[in-house]
Amino acid sequence: MTIQYLGHSCFLLSDGKQVILIDPFITGNPNAPCSADSIDTDYIILTHGHGDHIGDTISIASRCNSTVIAVNELGLYLSEFGLIVHRMHIGGAYFFEFGRVKFTIAHHGSSNNEGKYMGEPAGVVITIGNKKIYHCGDTGLFLDMKLIGEIDEIDVMMPPIGDNFTMGIDDAVRAVEFVKPKLVIPMHYNTFPVIKADPYKFKEKAEKNNFKCKVMDFGEIIEVL
Ligand code: NI
Ligand code: MN
Repeated sequence: MTIQYLGHSCFLLSDGKQVILIDPFITGNPNAPCSADSIDTDYIILTHGHGDHIGDTISIASRCNSTVIAVNELGLYLSEFGLIVHRMHIGGAYFFEFGRVKFTIAHHGSSNNEGKYMGEPAGVVITIGNKKIYHCGDTGLFLDMKLIGEIDEIDVMMPPIGDNFTMGIDDAVRAVEFVKPKLVIPMHYNTFPVIKADPYKFKEKAEKNNFKCKVMDFGEIIEVL
């Protein structure tokens, strides 16, 4: 399976058959490597309702007829726009064509741009092409991450490292120790001045603890073997 980084918390996963887009904040992201209308996707998975995560969901899902996977409240809100929505909640898993999606806890907020409550924020464990991907969403550090790593052997973990709204570098290094993924890809940094962080500093610290880290360029695609 392949992972493409589209900046901020946005990743495109593919097993060669199905395409899954996570947190598509493209329009308005100064680091976005492509335009929203160039993306084709079968599914969109959202971690929470903040504008830098819902992003271009409505336009992309409408154009591609994608199924949007989100927690109940956020899913109900997006249904109002005529989108195909699969609603789930934290702790629950469901098998889709490509594999399994399970929502995890995340300590954060979740309102839309109008301040309307969008349910609880989440992280997500996605199984696709026999690989397990843990996208943490926006979150502070929490000890239960240990349990997430114990229940599912994580191949790739994406922790936020930008601080201010989420974990900063040192807490994200602790998070990696809790989850013990085979590979870690930092996200949610440098998009705005308040979340400025050096991903190579994070990489250095994670590697000092013997974890493999990949800092992805905007638009870069890697294959997970
Ligand atoms: Ni957020
Ligand atoms: Mn965010």
